[in-house]
Amino acid sequence: MIKSFILGIIVAILAIAASIYLVLAKGVIPAGADSGPLPLEHWASRLSLHAALASEAPKTPNPVALTDANLIAGIQLYGQHCAICHGTAAGDASTSPVAKGEYPKPPQLGTDGVEDDPEGVTYWKIDHGIRWTGMPSWKATLSDQQMWTLALFLKHMDKLSPAAEQAWQAVTNTPPAPAPSPAPPASSSSPSS
Ligand code: HEC
Repeated sequence: MIKSFILGIIVAILAIAASIYLVLAKGVIPAGADSGPLPLEHWASRLSLHAALASEAPKTPNPVALTDANLIAGIQLYGQHCAICHGTAAGDASTSPVAKGEYPKPPQLGTDGVEDDPEGVTYWKIDHGIRWTGMPSWKATLSDQQMWTLALFLKHMDKLSPAAEQAWQAVTNTPPAPAPSPAPPASSSSPSS
């Protein structure tokens, strides 16, 4: 009796695993980023993000002092690494080709900023990135100090001093025109005859 019950459970588990495999292998679940989230994907990603933020985001104050020099350093880092997806001071009007192709859409922070979020929450998102979205983890590229400097700027971006505001207005997210292609290098291995 018990034996056939356990056997039944094993068969059921194998049948479910085989169906999941078939659904994936037959391409029933769209693999393209242009097909948007699956049912429950958005809900599941929010739920796990909120849980991670509640337990892991640092609650300590930002170790980077609120000075113009630090805000401008944050703006420069933002221009180098973030504007490509999150836009410039022009907000929604500056949505880049990369941002247009992402799902979920990266918020254009010039319009839809995160000034209301605690700096530790913003720091956590920069440090770890956000699963199921195009938000990368920056820990391999930026130092702790740089990530806190970015969090400082994002917290205060709606009330910048004139000097910082000027730096912010100067941030662009359009790639520079390609440099003219250099002359082909002279071949050193095969001397011309
Ligand atoms: C390749 C595109 C991409 C790049 C580059 C990128 N992000 Fe993101 N970021 C995203 C996406 C997409 C989201 C939205 C994630 C979501 O829906 O939860 C996001 C979300 C965020 C959020 C949370 C916004 C909110 O409303 O809660 C912050 C803060 C953030 N990014 C900061 C940064 C910073 C700082 C950088 C540069 C160091 C950066 N991101 C670079 C794609 C990017």
